[in-house]
Amino acid sequence: MIVLGIETSCDETSVAILKEGKDILSEVIYSQDRIHEKWGGVVPEIASRQHIKIIDRVVREALMEAKLDLKDIDLFSCTRGPGLIGSLLVGLTFTKSLAYSLSKPFLGVDHLHAHIESAFLENEGIEFPILALVVSGGHTSMFYMEKPLEFQLLGKTRDDAAGEILDKISKFLGIGYPGGPAIEGIAKDGNPDRFKFSIPVIKGGGLDFSFSGIKTAAYLYIKKGIVEKDSPELPDFLASFQKIIIDHIISNIEKALKDYKVKSLILSGGVARNGELRRRVSEKMNERGIKVYIPSPRHCTDNGSMVASLAYKLYMNGKRDGWDTDAYARFSEEGRNFITILPSEKIRKRYK
Ligand code: KG4
Ligand code: ZN
Repeated sequence: MIVLGIETSCDETSVAILKEGKDILSEVIYSQDRIHEKWGGVVPEIASRQHIKIIDRVVREALMEAKLDLKDIDLFSCTRGPGLIGSLLVGLTFTKSLAYSLSKPFLGVDHLHAHIESAFLENEGIEFPILALVVSGGHTSMFYMEKPLEFQLLGKTRDDAAGEILDKISKFLGIGYPGGPAIEGIAKDGNPDRFKFSIPVIKGGGLDFSFSGIKTAAYLYIKKGIVEKDSPELPDFLASFQKIIIDHIISNIEKALKDYKVKSLILSGGVARNGELRRRVSEKMNERGIKVYIPSPRHCTDNGSMVASLAYKLYMNGKRDGWDTDAYARFSEEGRNFITILPSEKIRKRYK
């Protein structure tokens, strides 16, 4: 079975073609980083327009790389949400149109579940139960997986995502975009204990994350002139800033492990490319005898392979999506809470 997966939830246009949900026949990723660089963050409208301009080319490249034709595809899949709604709608509409025109099935997948799938794509036999984290520019969420394809949300960020504050502070300092790798590079030579930050207290306990307090504390250091782009303290400052983000993530993992006994931990999403986060999470879990799976850097960030791989499993499990399948911007169970969809019968009557 040949599955084509399209990912356009944010600023990467990615298309991959997988055979039997495992063999990556092709994977093309177009990043818009250079386009959004001058704004220091993703501009949603520009992102959607860029997807529109390029998506057919990315699909064609993926087909060429796989030495296949559109008619060889058995299942067309894409990301439904959460993400930027304009970007999602480009991918969703394009995918549905391809499937419809070729009379092939179509399936939409959840972006966060797909990030977790990246770890399964690269590793055989990950043992359940699993604690799975997705840490990216748009999301910081933690799931418990008792068995395959069962994602129980334990906590998510109440405000900013981890990658978002890395990007924002980097922009404020003027040290580059995306912020995560820029900060990681400078922080390498810094003393992470030099500047004081504290782990946020989450009202009502629970396993949610909160990063806006850390962002404000960092802003204040910069605004008060204690640190700036060219100051010699910058590496120490950024090492301390990066450390508190990692501390918060690890402290939440440890909280979750009190109630959820797991055999494996998956860490995915763009921020999981960070060497220090990878090292510290692995070290902590090794101490507890929990096996850690972190996808290769390429598959931590948004990619079409994770979409195709998850779609294959869901399809094999009996999932089917109709032509009325919609995208959802925010975290929700398939977005139904956010939009009231009129039955097509009512719409037809209204416009008679
Ligand atoms: O998963 P992703 O490509 O897109 C979203 O779904 O958000 O993640 C992008 C985020 C950005 O915030 C970027 O700064 C961060 O991942 N990132 C990193 C690193 N590489 C990318 N954060 C920390 N260290 C890195 N090396
Ligand atoms: Zn993502």
